[in-house]
Amino acid sequence: MDTHECKSTVLIIFGATGDLTHRKLMPALYFLEKEKKISDDFQIIAIGRRNKTSESYIEEIVDSIKSNVSERLNHEILEKLAKRIQYHRQTFADDLGYQKLHNDIEAIHTCCNILYYLAVAPEYFDVIIEKLERYNMTQKEGAWRRVVIEKPFGRDLTTAEALNSRISSIFEEKDIYRIDHYLGKEMLQNMLVLRFANAFLEPIWNHQHIDNVQISSCETLGVETRGAYYESSGILRDMVQNHMLQLVMLTAMEPPKSFSEKHIRDEKLKVLESLTENMEKIETACGQYDSGTMDKKAVASYRQEDKVAGNSNVATFAAMKFILNNERWKDVPFYVRTGKRLEQKVTEVVIEFKHLPQMKNFENSEHIKPNTLVIKIHPEEGIEFKFNTKKPRTINDVVPVNMNFCQNCETGVSSPEAYERLLHDALRGDATLFTRWDEVKQSWILIDAILAKWGKKTLHFPNYKAGTWGPETAHELLGKDGRRWWVE
Ligand code: BG6
Repeated sequence: MDTHECKSTVLIIFGATGDLTHRKLMPALYFLEKEKKISDDFQIIAIGRRNKTSESYIEEIVDSIKSNVSERLNHEILEKLAKRIQYHRQTFADDLGYQKLHNDIEAIHTCCNILYYLAVAPEYFDVIIEKLERYNMTQKEGAWRRVVIEKPFGRDLTTAEALNSRISSIFEEKDIYRIDHYLGKEMLQNMLVLRFANAFLEPIWNHQHIDNVQISSCETLGVETRGAYYESSGILRDMVQNHMLQLVMLTAMEPPKSFSEKHIRDEKLKVLESLTENMEKIETACGQYDSGTMDKKAVASYRQEDKVAGNSNVATFAAMKFILNNERWKDVPFYVRTGKRLEQKVTEVVIEFKHLPQMKNFENSEHIKPNTLVIKIHPEEGIEFKFNTKKPRTINDVVPVNMNFCQNCETGVSSPEAYERLLHDALRGDATLFTRWDEVKQSWILIDAILAKWGKKTLHFPNYKAGTWGPETAHELLGKDGRRWWVE
């Protein structure tokens, strides 16, 4: 994969004092250290605007790792990681800061690869990249320079295109890593194995056998401290444009020619294209949470959250029905749902199979449940298959039973956090689990169209109570097709 002469690597994190670095990146680096996935000369330069010394920053990082890693920490590993970290104080537009950074990197290693991680608000993407270029930090003979960009990648097609053309005038597409942390989740990667390594599944993974697909990512959290960001993003930009569409793509894609980065991404893109071709068939429901009770505690409505307008019409819930325009999925609805302040935190894909014609011959036929295959992504990771069997001691009564494989509860296997896998992939140059520009572009075409539809709707927000399963309209979306959400 990596054929460059320079072997040592420096990770430069912009936004080093932010929440993402503390809660996700540093714990992920701890695990990479523990698993010996980073080399001895790997260094981390953490850039933040706050006034700190490297020592005080490292102390804070150690505390964050302690509170964000659930297993008992190994102090030797923690010390080893701490020794790699240097803190640099600079604002993102500070020219002198970049000059100093450049000199410091040269002082660490004259020949090194660099991974820039932009864990910053999107308004800083441009300025950081421009300064990196100005100070000659985006290319080096014999070494690689890569950049990881956090979401949101734009807020619509126009802004995403502008951002992309800016970044790609400086970095090549192969060196741009647009992150979607869902792709780092163990069960999303397992989806390819489940689908393409099981002879009994692939032949029935199509419209002849599948009645509908339901993809839910429900959260119990509200917008917490992110009211200002959420006001400009809402659920469509925050969850659907990226995570939910990734789930749809992995569930629906055709078998790729190989499991190479290119072939997988090519097939995923085709799913989005076929969704867009059927744009006029998309149906949606949206919602915003009202106050309610969660875990026996009263919680505020969205409009009462900090930095949220008292009359905000931003949606915190979305449900939609997609129909793909291709032979495999002819007329099979994909129901997608995500929202904040729902009853349970659960992310799952449910495949509901069709009834067989002969089922009607059983005595209790009207009570027979369809077969379902549930791919559990969070909090449980696993696969559950619900099928029918004969109830013992009856003539022919059909009852549903479950076959359950729980990867993170029964076998005790602890899955790596999404960021651990993604950081490691970016360091070793594998972009398969990152989004390619054409995917991002196509997803914005779709989201822009839905946003335009929503712009014309008269919204009666808030329309669901915190701690419930979302607005009535989300139930009607399936109810009018004679179906119901399985995850409830
Ligand atoms: C983030 C969104 O990308 O994903 C958050 O910005 C959301 O609003 C989070 O809470 C959900 O991620 P997960 O992994 O908890 O399902």
